[in-house]
Amino acid sequence: MLELIDVWKVYRTGSVEYPALRGVTLRIEDGEFVAVVGPSGSGKTTLLNLVGALDLPTKGDIVLNGTSYTSLGRSGLNELRRKELGFVFQTFNLLSHLTALENVELPLIAAGVPRSERRRRALEMLARLGMENKASKKPTELSGGEQQRVAIARALVNNPSVILADEPTGNLDSANAKNVVELLREINKREGKTILLVTHNLEIAEYADRIVRMRDGRVESEVRRN
Ligand SMILES: Nc1ncnc2c1ncn2[C@@H]1O[C@H](COP(=O)(O)OP(=O)(O)OP(=O)(O)O)[C@@H](O)[C@H]1O
Ligand SMILES: [Mg+2]
Repeated sequence: MLELIDVWKVYRTGSVEYPALRGVTLRIEDGEFVAVVGPSGSGKTTLLNLVGALDLPTKGDIVLNGTSYTSLGRSGLNELRRKELGFVFQTFNLLSHLTALENVELPLIAAGVPRSERRRRALEMLARLGMENKASKKPTELSGGEQQRVAIARALVNNPSVILADEPTGNLDSANAKNVVELLREINKREGKTILLVTHNLEIAEYADRIVRMRDGRVESEVRRN
């Protein structure tokens, strides 16, 4: 289970403070698919970055499977990020000088997996996303939808329990966007991965079990869909 307990994030620019999150409390069950929607500046990315342990709350805590983020030091947070979390970004964030296969291998290098096993697992993951025939292509040789599939393979290859996706379909045309969210839904259903997805697109949000609407750094409403 993933819990956010009265989470505040105050950004400080010089002497100016801005509370981007103002007491967010959320409880996300294992295997739940939650979409976060809300206007620009409402705190969606801030929320995802905190759950991703890329930044710590100013106040409050996040607890994943019983582990409190604020109790972990830097190396503990790094390990949690590496083992438990998979990230998917709007801009795909693939390394352009590496092939699709090498991009998918990256998290396994960080985890110290030996080379041959790395290769095998990365290929297997690409195959599961229907990308095995593109393994040797560089990102520029792939369509946006294909690049996002590679990025999803990279997010999944370490077998994380939670996938964090910030506008993963934001740079895709509607057909590819639908494709990618259906793929995430399938991974969520088939493998029981918890997914937290930020989107501006209500059609994309409709794939989630629950839609959380943010406004001014707070949860404005929640709608459970099934
Ligand atoms: N590093 C930062 N320093 C100062 N203020 C920040 C920082 N990051 C975000 N903010 C501010 O915090 C608020 C929330 O930003 P955030 O990026 O979480 O919004 P968002 O909901 O993801 O918006 P969008 O839909 O445009 O991506 C905004 O007002 C933003 O200007
Ligand atoms: Mg954002």
